[in-house]
Amino acid sequence: MKYLVFNSKKEASQEAYKILKSLINENSTLGLATGSTPTDLYVEMIADYKAGNFSYKNIKSYNLDEYVGISYDHPESYHKFMEKNLFDHVDIDKANTHVPDASASDLELAVKSYQEELNKAQIDVQILGIGGNGHIGFNEPGTPFDAGVHVVDLKEETIQANSRFFDGDINLVPKQAMTMGIKDIMRAKHIILLAFGKAKQDAIRSLVEGDEITENIPCTILKNHPSVFVLVDKDADFQ
Ligand code: F6R
Repeated sequence: MKYLVFNSKKEASQEAYKILKSLINENSTLGLATGSTPTDLYVEMIADYKAGNFSYKNIKSYNLDEYVGISYDHPESYHKFMEKNLFDHVDIDKANTHVPDASASDLELAVKSYQEELNKAQIDVQILGIGGNGHIGFNEPGTPFDAGVHVVDLKEETIQANSRFFDGDINLVPKQAMTMGIKDIMRAKHIILLAFGKAKQDAIRSLVEGDEITENIPCTILKNHPSVFVLVDKDADFQ
């Protein structure tokens, strides 16, 4: 595991983009994340595309998760997030992008078909944020490490943390999500995990320090992955 500390989210995201670019080509498959963490990385990706240095025409992407209970048109859905923050600004073919179909009427079927799609794919680089409680994707503490795609009840602390996207009102935050499992995340060839702000410090400590691997802190499984880059700002740094 490579652990890198930067002065700011911007600097960490610039370096994350350099690492990402060194690991992929224009035919690669990306695993993508949402939330506040990867936004500056997406800014770097868009800028490099606009400068004519990279094309997404043949890139495929798979997103980690999507809320259950809000439509794709909701401004805070992860479908909308991806359009706003990346897909609408590069030449990616929307048919090559995949975000869990969490507003399907038959969720069980949607879970099964996302799993099948992932099983057929090979993600070259998975981008991850991290929850204050150590969740990756929406694999909350206690999720078995061998879990695949599933519907999850979000923990109270995750609902609380994400209320900032919903006018600070926890009642407006979806209580469930559909997520890739830990097993799916671990299949990626490379992982780039970003973390910014004090609220992530404990999770980063558990991830980087010591040998403990426990389902109670999902990110700790990444200690078993052969190629992980962890980039943090100084507030998320635990040292
Ligand atoms: C998002 C995801 C989550 C977030 C995490 C941190 O697709 O899978 O694990 O990365 O909840 O969220 P932010 O970045 O908003 O602090």
